[in-house]
Amino acid sequence: MTQFNDTQLTAAVIESFEETPNPRAKFLLQELVKSLHDYVRKTDLTFAEWEYAIDFLTRTGQKCTDIRQEFILLSDVLGVSMLVDAVNHRERDGATETTVLGPFYVGEHKKTAHGTDISTNLPGERMFVQSRVTDLHGKPLAGVPVDVWHADDDGYYDSQKPSYATEGPSSRARFVTDDDGRFFFRTILPCSYPIPTDGPVGEMILQTRRHPMRPAHVHFLVNAPGYEPLITHVFIDGDKYLDSDVVFGVKDDLIARIEKRDDAAMPDGKPAKAPWHLMTYEFHLKPGHGAAPQPLGVRETEVA
Ligand code: BEZ
Ligand code: FE
Repeated sequence: MTQFNDTQLTAAVIESFEETPNPRAKFLLQELVKSLHDYVRKTDLTFAEWEYAIDFLTRTGQKCTDIRQEFILLSDVLGVSMLVDAVNHRERDGATETTVLGPFYVGEHKKTAHGTDISTNLPGERMFVQSRVTDLHGKPLAGVPVDVWHADDDGYYDSQKPSYATEGPSSRARFVTDDDGRFFFRTILPCSYPIPTDGPVGEMILQTRRHPMRPAHVHFLVNAPGYEPLITHVFIDGDKYLDSDVVFGVKDDLIARIEKRDDAAMPDGKPAKAPWHLMTYEFHLKPGHGAAPQPLGVRETEVA
């Protein structure tokens, strides 16, 4: 048969993937065809709408660079990133909750000494972060690399600013846990910030009257051999956007109460200019394996 009605067409396209050697790739492609065809049928998609979608995706690709990933942003605002996270982390067994990686992870960070101020030249309220990495039974995990990154007081990541090329990273570092599983550092208290709105994804958010804001948070990527890599954030309690995060990334267990302190020294005994803030949070890892995310632009898995 060379001519199809709209249902026969779906069956023919599904059938066309029948000889795909990789069974998982075959399954994913056939299910994709089913869902896409259902969408077109359900919506009676017009030519103008289809062209708009193609142009939107083209512009999304064109907005991507080595340090800007507009497709991750699209996946985030459509809730797909959090859905992939959810279906892959159904059983936590007491392990720390996970959330989106986001588009501003730029790959392995530079190893930094405990206590370092990772936001030295940035304005903002000062914060001390003390943390510990353990297994599910509270056993400290030593020698674990922890990548940390967050936005500045104006809501920008270092990689979004022209100074990144010449001055290098800020509010971004790697700490390695000590024998007791601990690490600590100084930084500034992050604030809520908008996702980038100067591209097609931002355009969609604004045209659909959604707000572009993410509640204040610090990103952590904890990657211990023999354990599932943990990609998560710690959110600042009290933030007005906790209930309406544009990327749907908030989980209750990831919200930390930040203490306002006026002691003359921070927990490592070094002098502090009051007032300052104290973030305390423990990460619990689940046994497992799996690769941590690659820097932008590096592809980890071939599906075909
Ligand atoms: C972030 O937290 O860095 C982020 C996550 C998703 C979309 C945009 C930004
Ligand atoms: Fe972020």
